[in-house]
Amino acid sequence: MKKKESTVEDLRGMIDMQKLPRHIAIIMDGNGRWAQRRGMPRVFGHKRGAERVKNVVEQCRALGIQILTLYAFSDENWGRPREEVSFLMDMLGSYLRSEIDSMKKNGIRFRTIGRIERLPASASTWIEKARSETEQNSGMVLNLALSYGGRGEILQAIRRLQSAGGIPEELREEHLSRHLDTAGLPDPDLMIRTSGEQRISNFLLWQAAYAELYFTEVLWPDFDEKELLLSIVDYQKRHRRFGLTGEQLPQGVGRDDAPTAAESHR
Ligand code: IPE
Ligand code: IPE
Ligand code: MG
Repeated sequence: MKKKESTVEDLRGMIDMQKLPRHIAIIMDGNGRWAQRRGMPRVFGHKRGAERVKNVVEQCRALGIQILTLYAFSDENWGRPREEVSFLMDMLGSYLRSEIDSMKKNGIRFRTIGRIERLPASASTWIEKARSETEQNSGMVLNLALSYGGRGEILQAIRRLQSAGGIPEELREEHLSRHLDTAGLPDPDLMIRTSGEQRISNFLLWQAAYAELYFTEVLWPDFDEKELLLSIVDYQKRHRRFGLTGEQLPQGVGRDDAPTAAESHR
């Protein structure tokens, strides 16, 4: 007999609220293919993708996720056709304009990573407004990766270290972490990529060292609450060992305890 597919309610019931990923990072991929499969221009998929962003932000917030990082535009994406890039930039501005009130109402703290100085004023003005008007909020952090690349971010951190007094003789990981765009945020626990591609595409190279990776065939415009819950249920089945042996980690060890044990050997 064919197994009945789980519903959103079934999946909600399967989630252990004590073991939620603290930080989820998503590579939102597949907008173009979603549109092309419908005989529509790629930008149609981006529009639908932006609607999904609204839903996923709300679902993560309601669930109690503390940080959600969304890869919205990579450094490499600047190389796309000019019309597509300007469509995405316009969409970003209008997304922020329409969401700012709901971020404020829901206690969301908005921030970004990446080279936002490269974005047009129509987008960066709204970014600054959303950031400053939500910085006192204490709810979920919504972190958008815009004009972002992991390698560029690491280089930039080294430059910042140099200009903040030079590279310390005993250079440690935290010296660099403190100068990354993600300074102050814990590393992602769960990294999701939609659309079936199984690669990182220059996303959070440093921070994803011990992230659990989750790949789904679902294209971003089809990523709904059920898909989000499926990824969390899958994450909760994983055994995170952080380089230690299973025996060293007592059953149900806290996600934050294990790296501390491993770090003591660095
Ligand atoms: C992700 O969808 C959105 C951005 C990278 C801005 P794509 O536009 O990459 O969609 P595909 O991968 O071509 O289907
Ligand atoms: C990664 O998707 C970037 C974003 C989702 C913003 P791409 O579609 O740009 O990545 P590649 O080219 O397939 O690696
Ligand atoms: Mg893509």
